[in-house]
Amino acid sequence: LGLQDSASPLMEQLIFFHDHALLILVMITVLVGYLMFMLFFNNYVNRFLLHGQLIEMIWTILPAIILLFIAFPSLRLLYLLDEINEPSVTLKSIGHQWYWSYEYSDFNNIEFDSYMIPTNELSTDGFRLLDVDNRIVLPMNSQIRILVTAADVIHSWTIPALGVKVDGTPGRLNQTNFFMNRPGLFYGQCSEICGANHSFMPIVIESVPTNYFIKWISNN
Ligand code: CUA
Repeated sequence: LGLQDSASPLMEQLIFFHDHALLILVMITVLVGYLMFMLFFNNYVNRFLLHGQLIEMIWTILPAIILLFIAFPSLRLLYLLDEINEPSVTLKSIGHQWYWSYEYSDFNNIEFDSYMIPTNELSTDGFRLLDVDNRIVLPMNSQIRILVTAADVIHSWTIPALGVKVDGTPGRLNQTNFFMNRPGLFYGQCSEICGANHSFMPIVIESVPTNYFIKWISNN
């Protein structure tokens, strides 16, 4: 009943927007519910009522104005999510049936595949259907760009805590970005129905301090 805690500024804004939209939804539901309920107890009948210009104007324009309070913040977020703020690291992720492969083209051309760990090989502290053999390591507190594509069918690179969801489409290169404001592990899953094992191609990001990231890069 809600969203995962955010780990990035944009996801925080998305949660604020979700709560804002929900509040407006509750107000509309309560008002309309009250009006419909009260109709049951209404005995007034006006057989000669044929038109009511004023009330028609009010109940047309008022909902339109209310919708603007959702439309403008939504538009603001849409453009904010597409902004690329001079990224310091670029990660390329390629969707395959059914695993992800990653490329760090900025550095020593590091590339590797990332498969889900099957349940029977999982360690006791592992997350079933969510842990992978090779994690993505990325620095926290820096702007990161990801390029997403696919090799066979459409996949979707999705990480709820970071507010990232991009389709990987064969023959196209999609771009998005995020900023992780704390260290830790961030989990995601493919969210484009991509075949029999669609549910079994998770994503794990290891968010680490910058010096640790440099160490990881130089050891690869
Ligand atoms: Cu890849 Cu669903």
